[in-house]
Formats: sequence, structure tokens, C-alpha cells
Amino acid sequence: MPFPPRFLEELRDRVSLSQLIGRKVKLTRRGREYLGLCPFHHEKTPSFTVNDDKGFYHCFGCGAHGDAIRFLTESEKMPFMEAVEHLAHLAGLSVPQMTASDVQKQEALHNDLAVMEAACTYFQEQLFSPRGEKARNYLQKRGITKEVAQAFRLGYAPSGSGLLAHLTEKGFSLSVAAALGLIVESSEKRARHDYFYDRVMFPIFNRRQKVIAFGGRLLEKGEPKYLNSPETALFHKGEQLYALSNAAPTIRQKNKAVLVEGYMDVIALHSAGFTNAVAPLGTAFTEWQLKLLWQSCDEPIICFDGDLAGRKAAVRALYRALDILTPGKSLQFVFLPDPFDPDDMIRKKSPQAFQEALNGAQTFADTLWNTLLENRSIDTPERFAKFEKDVEETVRRIKDERVRSSYEREMKNRLWRLAHQRKRQTAETLYRAPGGIFRPTEDRELRLLTAYLICYPQEGQKILETGFVPQFHTPEMQVLFEKIAERMIEKPDITGAEMKTYLTEEMKFSLPREVDLIEQSGKETETVRAELDKWSDSIHLKALKKEKEEKLKLFAKNQTSELWNEIKQITEDIEKFNAVE
Ligand code: UTP
Ligand code: MN
Repeated sequence: MPFPPRFLEELRDRVSLSQLIGRKVKLTRRGREYLGLCPFHHEKTPSFTVNDDKGFYHCFGCGAHGDAIRFLTESEKMPFMEAVEHLAHLAGLSVPQMTASDVQKQEALHNDLAVMEAACTYFQEQLFSPRGEKARNYLQKRGITKEVAQAFRLGYAPSGSGLLAHLTEKGFSLSVAAALGLIVESSEKRARHDYFYDRVMFPIFNRRQKVIAFGGRLLEKGEPKYLNSPETALFHKGEQLYALSNAAPTIRQKNKAVLVEGYMDVIALHSAGFTNAVAPLGTAFTEWQLKLLWQSCDEPIICFDGDLAGRKAAVRALYRALDILTPGKSLQFVFLPDPFDPDDMIRKKSPQAFQEALNGAQTFADTLWNTLLENRSIDTPERFAKFEKDVEETVRRIKDERVRSSYEREMKNRLWRLAHQRKRQTAETLYRAPGGIFRPTEDRELRLLTAYLICYPQEGQKILETGFVPQFHTPEMQVLFEKIAERMIEKPDITGAEMKTYLTEEMKFSLPREVDLIEQSGKETETVRAELDKWSDSIHLKALKKEKEEKLKLFAKNQTSELWNEIKQITEDIEKFNAVE
């Protein structure tokens, strides 16, 4: 029984053959393929291979060969329909019924692909004919060898309507060619001409290496520089990636894809050995394309042009991906120096220079953080609060709960560090200012507090929440305190013993002697918690009193009602604390 167009293809695309076969045969990876003992004949050394990219298994011993459906009908003795239903179930698809119109569509699809193939061959022939000389020179000038041109099946669409004549001669219907965007028809269908003329042609392939569209580049300056096939029954721009069919094996093997902006970038990269490069097709990078890449690797690298447009496109890709991050699946970002694109990097610098740029890829979290922090100041409490708010709101967009909470922790940590840096700077400026009001707190009390946090990190969370940043005399203590606080944020459920191991064994700190004293005293956790809570209140109170003092001094010089309201607010807060005590 026949199925609607594309159904079986989609089924094969969606089901991982190695996973399917792996349930029955123990497979080990060998390069692009998997290897195992053949289930179709008896053998001791493996000669049975499975290739996910091609969607086929093959046995070099007995010659067994086929796709996912064949595997089920042969090895499980399933009837064809049952095999299809089984695969559809695995792929989460339902088996559609084939109607008469589906049969027609199926035939139309085959016919469409045949027209595109004929056009591609025609353009290729033109490139290597005398008329193609200009185009050959152009490609040579851009460093594209004949071998590379052949591998990508590049071609040339000459001026005039050569393709139209060619397709007519081959007996193809011109209205089909028009529907495929190869021929332009006037409304009365009297006048017809080629859609692409005097352009270098880049065929676009689907996953099965069938031509589904073209991009054509002008040889000289002009508009539009690239002309792409319109959306057709075969071609949905947002669902395809240029060169994915060539790049997929390397992407899997390296677990890494490089996404660049243009056709030329892809070709330059492939010729320089970066055979995992792909590009979107003259559209913004879509969710669909990202998911397509995630099928073959975990963290594709976005490497757009170094100009402003490229950076903006990268940021758009970042926000598009944010919502749909899942555990393990992310993106990385490379920002090339302005105005280089990957093609320029390879030719004007070197492949090594490009490799170095790739090695310096930024993580998603870093890029997100830098993007949010870019072009803004956080030098007042209000501005910092706004930044905090934006960070939180952005993180909230992540739909996957696990990834989201992981980001919440990460960002809390970064915010804490940033606030800390900022406060230290403010404190230092105050200290250095003539008549400065900053006086370092007694270290002894702070050492004790630090020791308490080491022994009872869970009970000390409230101290951190006050935003309290102590000022130590010695930098060692300062760093120790920061590390403790960071660890408490990263791992709110950390125990005292774990904290000690972390600090002494991983970080190689020596601990303040107060730690021993606290341990010897053997206090109940509840008592410690109460003490630490009180401590945090008193820290808070001190900070409030200091703030009030400062504001009063200001008020003495400058009586504004705004300032007075602030002082009133602080006074109320202080009273609340006193009431509790
Ligand atoms: P670029 O202009 O950056 O492409 O556009 P490029 O590959 O660097 O071009 P050259 O040949 O080296 O000058 C990036 C991509 O945007 C799409 C194409 O897919 C192109 O590869 N584009 C660009 C269009 O679709 N139409 C245009 O007019 C320009
Ligand atoms: Mn370019």
C-alpha cells in the first residue's frame, strides 16, 4: 500500500537506525558507522555495519542490506504494514491513509525532483562549457577549485532562457518548472523566461542529497547579490540548512557543527577541512534549524560575520534558542573581528586563525550574560536592581525546568560576585576619599562569622541574603569568604563537612582556627541557626544605621523632601528590627 508523499522519508529521517537495530544487535561505533555481529547469518567477527546518515545497514559477510523498514520485515519477520506502524509509533507519527490525491502528489513529487535534477545538471554543464568561462574565472578568483565546484555541484545560469529551452527539449512541463521557481511566467502564460540568469548557481540539497532549490550569485556588483528559489512544494527555507547533507557525518563524528551566514562561507570552510559547516538559507536562523542541528550534535557553534549585522543576528539566535534549551543541548558563539566573515578569515588570514577563533567559542551562559550587561551601567542601586530584574526575567523564559533552575543558580552566583565587586569598589572609593567614612570592621568578629559559615553553611544562608560583604584586612580572608559564599550559592544544601573538604582539598585554603573552636563547642544546629539569624539581623541593622547617618549628613547640607522620605523609611526599618529584638 502506498503512502502519502514524504511520509516514508520522514519516517526514515526521524528514526535512528542504530538505535532501532541496537536493541537487537550489540553495536559499537567505528567512525561514521556502527559495527556488530550480523543478525542475518552466523558469524564470530563482526561484518555488519549500520550507517545512520545513509539510513542503511549492510553486511559485508552475507550481503544483507536495507533500511529501517527492511530490518523489521527481515529480522523480526514483521509484515510491511506492521513495520511501518511500528516505526511510526517510535517516531511519534500516525500512519496516514493514502488517498487518490495522495498518489497524485507522490507522483508530482518525483516529477518535481526530476525537474530540479535536470536543471542542476544543466547549470553544471553550462559552467564547464565555453559560455561558462566568466563564471569559472569568478570561482577561481574566489579560490574555489574545480574539485570543490564539482563536489558542491556548482553551476552557471547564463543570460537568456537556456534552461527553458533545455527543459522543453527534455519534455518537462513548463508550468511545473514555473511552480518550482525555475521559470517565470506572465499572467497569460504567453511570455516565459528563466528565473536565474548570469549567476553562479549553488544547488541546495535535502537530507537525501536531492536538489530542492537553488541560490544564484551575481558575478559582479548588483542587486540582489544572491537570488534564492522561492518557497515551493519542495523547498521550505526555514526547515533546511545549506550543506547539511554533506556536513552531517562530520557533525556527528565531532559532535560539533559550525553555523555560518553564507554559501561562500560554507564552501570556503569545507575546502579548508572544516567539513562540519552549514548555513541557514538567506533567512534568520529558525527554531526548526536549531532542532535539526541538535539531532546530530549537542552544542553547535554560531559563527556569523564580524560586522554589526552578524552580531545582531547572533544575539537573535541566542534569544531564539533560550526558550528551548534542554539538558545538554545548547549553543556556543564565536565573534569574528569586524569586518571578517569566515570566508575572509580563511583566505585573508589562515585556516589556523579560524580554528583559533573556534577554540575561543563562548558558552551560551557567558554570551547571555555579556549581552545583558552590554551598554548599560550598574553603578547605582536602582540601575543594578534593573539589571538584576532583567537577568531574572530573561532566565525565566527558559521552558525546561531543570535548565532553568541551573541558570537561576548560575546567574545568582554571577550577580552576587558582580554586586560584591561593585560594593568593594564603592567602599574603596569612600575609604580613599578625603574625610572618608569607611572604617574596616573588626576582623576578629568576621573571622568568627566566616568560621560559622564553614561549619554551618545551610544555617548561614540568611547572612548572604542580607547582601552583606565584609571587609577584611587580609586578602586571604577576603578570598576565603568569597569562595565560601560562592559555594553556598552554588550548592545551597552543602554540609559543613563538604564545605571543609572543598575549601581545604579542592581550593587548598587553610581554615581559620575558629573552626576548631566551634567544633569543640558542639552546639546544637538549632542554636547555631538562631545565633546566625540574629547575627544577620545585627549586620543588617548596622548597615541601616550607617546608611541613616550618611543620609542625615547629606540632609544637613541639602534639605530635599525626597531625602527626608528616605530617612523616614530607614528609620521605620530600624524600628522594625528593634521591635523584634
Ligand atoms: P553575505 O552577503 O554575507 O554572503 O550574505 P557571503 O556568502 O559573504 O557573500 P559573498 O559572496 O562572500 O559576497 C549571507 C547570506 O545571506 C543570503 C545568502 O544566503 C548569503 O549567503 N543573502 C545575501 C541573500 O539571500 N540575498 C542577498 O542579496 C544577500
Ligand atoms: Mn563573504
